[in-house]
Amino acid sequence: MKKILIATAWPYVNGKIHLGHVTGCLLPADIFARYNRLIGNDVKFVSGSDMHGTPTAVLAQKEGKTPIEVANHFHKLAQETIRMYNISFDLYTSTATDNHKELVWEIFNRLKETGGIIEKETEQTYCEKEEKFLPDRYVEGVCPKCGFTGARGDQCDSCGSLLDPTDLINPKCKTCGETPKRKLTKHMFLDLEKLSPALSKYVDSKKNIWKTNVFNSTESWISQGLIPRAITRDMDYGIPVPLEGYEKKVIYVWMEALLGYLSAPKELGEEVYKKYWYDKTSEIYIFIGKDNIPFHTVILPGLLLGLNDDKINLPTNIVSNEFLNLNNDKFSKSRNNFIEADYIVSKYGTDIARAYLILIMPEYSDSNFTWENFEENINGSLIDNLGNMVNRTLVFLKNISKKNPNITESTFNNLSISKDIEKMINETYFNISEYLDGSAGNNLKKDDDDSKTKKISFSLAFKEIFILSKEANKYFDTKKPWKDDAPNQTIYDMIQIIFNIAIMLSIFLPETKDRIFSLLGCESKTINGFEFQELKEIHIPDNIEVLFKKIDIDENIDI
Ligand code: MF3
Ligand code: ZN
Repeated sequence: MKKILIATAWPYVNGKIHLGHVTGCLLPADIFARYNRLIGNDVKFVSGSDMHGTPTAVLAQKEGKTPIEVANHFHKLAQETIRMYNISFDLYTSTATDNHKELVWEIFNRLKETGGIIEKETEQTYCEKEEKFLPDRYVEGVCPKCGFTGARGDQCDSCGSLLDPTDLINPKCKTCGETPKRKLTKHMFLDLEKLSPALSKYVDSKKNIWKTNVFNSTESWISQGLIPRAITRDMDYGIPVPLEGYEKKVIYVWMEALLGYLSAPKELGEEVYKKYWYDKTSEIYIFIGKDNIPFHTVILPGLLLGLNDDKINLPTNIVSNEFLNLNNDKFSKSRNNFIEADYIVSKYGTDIARAYLILIMPEYSDSNFTWENFEENINGSLIDNLGNMVNRTLVFLKNISKKNPNITESTFNNLSISKDIEKMINETYFNISEYLDGSAGNNLKKDDDDSKTKKISFSLAFKEIFILSKEANKYFDTKKPWKDDAPNQTIYDMIQIIFNIAIMLSIFLPETKDRIFSLLGCESKTINGFEFQELKEIHIPDNIEVLFKKIDIDENIDI
């Protein structure tokens, strides 16, 4: 049994949770968590809202609200979206808790003692009109690395570089448009320069574990040379700095939010925290978007290595996905190229939304959402293939038992599954496991675009189920049970496929698994691991509801 901490990037609360976050972080992490729980691993799955920082403060200022009002509002909505998508968090908390603040202070103080963080006096952007310093997103300008004109003081969205406001060319105050001056001020810095050898060693050890994009971009940042990075800011919204002379400053949002990966398990209990962060046999998986890579692969391990504590763990894998587009274009509210994550669930239900987003998950390249493609995929894979296979089998069973009183539930008592069908089912389990974590353990080589790394793919894992279901439809067609005087074995085999498909679906579409179990009359059956299981008691159903209703996207034309 493995001990596995699973986390997703903590979303900012300057808006609702975005579809890209659902398909890129929440769903893969949820599938991974459900899978690991099912195979008996000791899993905790956590995240929370990133309540502080300039994204929320800038929005609050625009709306004439306090930052905490804005933060609380969107934190509630985030919890709602997470519930709608049936994401199986053990804890979804926020960075506004006392528990989080205390852990951040503890780490801050330890880093001060080890010299991992140091004080430096530097020039920072300062707006004379507003009479305040302009950290992070309070300034915009031209990226010095790639020339992008909309770069923000914390990061360039075009090339992904981490920036300081003073790095920007032609900087402008986000609030009043003035060109900021510079003013000397003291800050605490994470000494990445000093930590650079330890960081390089850590990154090198991830060559065959991290996805290629994560590894390559990190390696290139490190090879450009690391410099100390400020981890305090001149602002009044955030976690106060526990140091004299820092009364008007707060801890940088990225430093403290990253420590949420430690504070969330701690909120579940001291022993949970110790188990995942201080037990060398534990594994830590973090699912993020690609714009978050350097924070997770450089700053987070930097903070941990800066503690000089051999006992503390470092993340095992940082899984980054690419972006989701809409109609081949970036999501944009202002240009009206936008769908709310909640809309799809409220209109079509949780599992239809999950299914499509898993099918188009942007795992190795950006992917594209369109309503036409949504209709095609749901009607094709879920309805014509899987739904039809389940429905025709159960309807056939019901009708034949009506026509032929000799066929009752006990007719199937002495049967067992055909060996070739069992083999086919087991192959699907094997392939899914292989795609989820390589745990099936052989060198099943798929057509790899990523030959160095084990190709984790939640989307390909999910598609294996439809391959099996298609085979089941073929089996039914070939056996022609309607022409057979003794179709019991065919029915029995089909029921075993359906039962096992439901088990596989439990990690992708948990509600659908429950509905199939109820059609099979085995609601209370417990699942034993992720391998072939035989359903000995065959139930003849009365009311056979279809699993999914056909989608007609013309209904969406007005959005
Ligand atoms: N709030 C950041 C974003 O939405 C992500 C923070 S991840 C964390 O881009 F772990 F640092 F919280
Ligand atoms: Zn850039």
